[in-house]
Amino acid sequence: MKNTHELIEKNVGLLTVLIFVAISLGAMVQITPLMFQQQTMEPVKDLRPYTPLELEGRDIYIREGCVGCHSQMIRPFRAETERYGHYSVAGESVWEHPFLWGSKRTGPDLARVGGRYSDQWHIVHLRNPRDVVPESNMPGFPWLEENELTGELTAKKMEVFRGFGVPYTDEDIAGAKEAVKGKTEMQALVAYLQSLGTHLK
Ligand code: HEC
Repeated sequence: MKNTHELIEKNVGLLTVLIFVAISLGAMVQITPLMFQQQTMEPVKDLRPYTPLELEGRDIYIREGCVGCHSQMIRPFRAETERYGHYSVAGESVWEHPFLWGSKRTGPDLARVGGRYSDQWHIVHLRNPRDVVPESNMPGFPWLEENELTGELTAKKMEVFRGFGVPYTDEDIAGAKEAVKGKTEMQALVAYLQSLGTHLK
């Protein structure tokens, strides 16, 4: 037994392989059950896919790096649920590609920000956060009000999402371009924010 251990410790190649095997087994034990549990794969009852405008808003959220300062994942701890609302459940995220759970909270969690403020509040806040929260260190995003969406790629994006299992209908996709064309990026982002966390009843 002593010799086996010595052999492993002195042989870097063997040690590397065995570490890899050990980590893979550990990961498989954690990950495999999640792929078969209904609870983690089934959408919550009232989940609906993002509207075309919300979907574009989500892309702007990704582009502007909001996820670098905001998480969308309320953990099941009292301090979190009292501040943000019901903890996040897996069934709310089944149609998220990619997930925007995040891991950095320079600002508050946004998983349930939908409906907390008016559209007008968000517009003023995104233009210049200090106009509504004087001590805020969030940057302003004034260009969102100037940039208009063309809707050129919206239908295509929805088709890709449908390939991932998001239940968009042919009508949804056909009407996508019209639904976003001429809207500003600000309108899209606010629509997205207002939809967050509103599906879990
Ligand atoms: C540099 C970090 C940073 C970035 C980047 C950032 N935020 Fe923030 N955000 C904050 C901070 C800090 C606050 C808290 C102060 C405030 O309300 O302005 C905040 C607050 C918010 C709030 C209010 C949340 C609440 O519950 O009161 C919303 C909504 C929000 N941010 C959206 C966004 C969006 C959308 C983006 C991307 C366009 C973004 N933020 C980018 C730091 C950031």
